[in-house]
Amino acid sequence: MELELRNISMSYGRKRALDRVSFKLEPCFCGLLGPNGAGKSTLIKILTGGLTATEGEILCDGAPVARNLQKYLGNIGYMPQEQALYRDFTAFEYLDYMAALKGISRKERAERIEAVLRDVELYEERSGKLKTFSGGMRQRVMLAQALLGDPPLLILDEPMSGLDPGQRVRIRQLLRRHGQRSIVLMATHIVADVEASSDRVLLLSQGHLVGFDTLEALRRGGGTEGARSLEEIYVELCGDGATKNDTDKV
Ligand SMILES: Nc1ncnc2c1ncn2[C@@H]1O[C@H](COP(=O)(O)OP(=O)(O)O)[C@@H](O)[C@H]1O
Ligand SMILES: [Mg+2]
Repeated sequence: MELELRNISMSYGRKRALDRVSFKLEPCFCGLLGPNGAGKSTLIKILTGGLTATEGEILCDGAPVARNLQKYLGNIGYMPQEQALYRDFTAFEYLDYMAALKGISRKERAERIEAVLRDVELYEERSGKLKTFSGGMRQRVMLAQALLGDPPLLILDEPMSGLDPGQRVRIRQLLRRHGQRSIVLMATHIVADVEASSDRVLLLSQGHLVGFDTLEALRRGGGTEGARSLEEIYVELCGDGATKNDTDKV
């Protein structure tokens, strides 16, 4: 699959949240990095059909997605930033419900659900009610529903928030593996979550795409001197505002 954005802009009234964002992605694990307020969630909502861009277009394998939106949306696994879970469901019931919504056949459902529950290390807790789960466990349930059906386009908005370091490492490895055959786009404001395992990085600052390259190329920065840390590049490209709100690093 190939995903292309052409001059995507978004305004909320007079607030311009995205300004002519363009990029093209093939299967990889791509970090969408930027400070709070940069426009990451806005971009993700546009990509997942929750918002319509004020300008620009999205193409999937060269064809505008607006032409067959349902087909495009059917290829997406999405984990939103806000949790909207059915609190009285067990983890298994919730995933069974989501699997049905995604059109996964009854025959396949149990096997698929077991696989994603094992991926996020919640299989033993499958019969627990969601309202009894910790924030980190709920995050992982949300991730599990996004993984259901092995979607060719996996879009995750701040999936690591509330997870402890060990879980972050394991989820990053999982997403990296998934990125070998699918496009995995992960929004985060935490540099470490991108630096450790992303293939590519999109850097967003105040609605502008200020960097897009492989991690390696970004770190070399075209310069002759040695590679820099992603954190230095982030502060340089996103400005000092970049560090102000980042109190919840790993
Ligand atoms: N529904 C909305 N109405 C008005 N402004 C919004 C709305 N959603 C987001 N914004 C503004 O758009 C900008 C980008 O927000 P958002 O996409 O949530 O950024 P991020 O996810 O990078 O933190 C922010 O300035 C935010 O206040
Ligand atoms: Mg956000």
